[in-house]
Amino acid sequence: MRNDLVHRPRRLRRTPALRRLTDTTHIARSNLVLPLFVSEVLPEPRPIDRMPGVVVHTRDTLRKAAAAAAEAGVGALMLFGVPDPDRKDTTGSQAWAADGITQQALTDLAAEVGEKLVLIGDVNLDECTTHGHAGVLGDDGDVDNDATLQTYAKVAVAQAQAGAHMVAPSGMMDGQVAEIRHALDEAGYPHTPILAYAAKYASAFYGPFRQAVNSSLTGGDRATYQQSTAGSVREALHEVCLDVAQGADVVMIKPAGLYLDVIQAVRDQVDVLVAAYQTSGEYAQIEAAAAFGWLEHRDKAIRESLLAIRRAGADLIITYWATEVAKGADH
Ligand code: PBG
Repeated sequence: MRNDLVHRPRRLRRTPALRRLTDTTHIARSNLVLPLFVSEVLPEPRPIDRMPGVVVHTRDTLRKAAAAAAEAGVGALMLFGVPDPDRKDTTGSQAWAADGITQQALTDLAAEVGEKLVLIGDVNLDECTTHGHAGVLGDDGDVDNDATLQTYAKVAVAQAQAGAHMVAPSGMMDGQVAEIRHALDEAGYPHTPILAYAAKYASAFYGPFRQAVNSSLTGGDRATYQQSTAGSVREALHEVCLDVAQGADVVMIKPAGLYLDVIQAVRDQVDVLVAAYQTSGEYAQIEAAAAFGWLEHRDKAIRESLLAIRRAGADLIITYWATEVAKGADH
């Protein structure tokens, strides 16, 4: 036996009990957030081809999926309403209409599971605009930042009125957090927290989501508001600090698994809660590879993808696997 090998890291890996003792990264079901889609017009739930296992719900099946998530111990739901295409317009007015699909579904969910988990509304216009952009277009065809802020304020208040416990502005407009904070306070919702999509990239990993909510662009480019995928970590930190200064209660990085460096830097820089959104494309790549048999261990791959996000520093993880993972979570 050689005796010059003092350090043998394998000593702590020898048995399952040792490995269990020394594993220090955990997924808690209460920190998982499940995104849910609901349609205004579908008679039946519609499977999303590019996201096997995920559907666009009817109001009825949405309630059942929410109850199942609550039962599994998921911490929150994030709701995306898909309006009747005939009710879309250039300003996305269904996003703040009292009878808009998101508001109706939030009211349903507040009654069904409102005591058991947190209901988060996505504050954006893209599902409700005919052009698919996150805001109102100016004469030059680009999204008009300041005109859009006023509509975001209306959306946030409408969602709070409908039963949202938290609102999540996802449009990457400058000043969106301050505008929404002010509007919520004025409307009597000073206790409704804001989860800000603070560093959101113009990613190729949102494609399946856009198929689900029919928000593909008819023209223009989201790169004028979402961050460049080739941008610096400093740019992300700047965005995050601006949102914290404007009153963000939670800051989010999106996508998650491809931006672990950003998650880690944000975690080090700020003391507010950090969330990460594992997007539809991140979901699709594991599901597709598993369906092909190219990733043999689907469940392990999913867990590994979440552990990496957790270890990088995300407190909350938004994932389409939330209900499934919550059932087998560590606690
Ligand atoms: C905006 C929004 C998007 C996603 C979440 N909120 C789409 C976009 O910015 O185009 C993407 C989520 C995903 O891909 O899973 N409403």
